[in-house]
Amino acid sequence: MASTIEIHIRVDVLDPAELTAPERQAMQLAQEAANDAYAPYSNFLVGAALVLEDGSMFKGSNQENAAYPSGLCAERTALFALSAHHPNKKIKLLAVTARRREEMQFLPAMPCGACRQVMAEYEHKQKETIPVLLQAADGKFYRFKNVADLLPFQFNKEHL
Ligand code: THU
Repeated sequence: MASTIEIHIRVDVLDPAELTAPERQAMQLAQEAANDAYAPYSNFLVGAALVLEDGSMFKGSNQENAAYPSGLCAERTALFALSAHHPNKKIKLLAVTARRREEMQFLPAMPCGACRQVMAEYEHKQKETIPVLLQAADGKFYRFKNVADLLPFQFNKEHL
């Protein structure tokens, strides 16, 4: 008899007023980071912010390239830069937002598959979950309790 695996993922859908103070600050930094995006090809500005264990924050934005695949998403830009500058600082929160150039309203920022894989790597490495806060439609936010919920059946070093 075939068995089935069912996956239930809990995602909090929040209004701005329901964010915690660190979440609000991280989302604000992500919004500022989006302003620094180098996105002359897509005009889609993405900002990511990381809250670290010492309370400091780190940001990244998407960096595009005339050779399109050479560009990098905001999430990976932030994570790789953090890991290069502060390889041992643990991440307590990751926030992501996006908007189109010339439009002020923030748009749903769902991390791409490659970014989810990279997020999973650092969650695994630090042996502590990384909550993820994503800009959602209509000014709301999605709160995931960890990266694993964004990438079920993930491949990581345990599989090597
Ligand atoms: N982008 C990100 O920065 N993060 C994502 O998770 C999705 C996509 C960027 C890549 C590219 O510069 C632009 O958005 C359009 O795909």
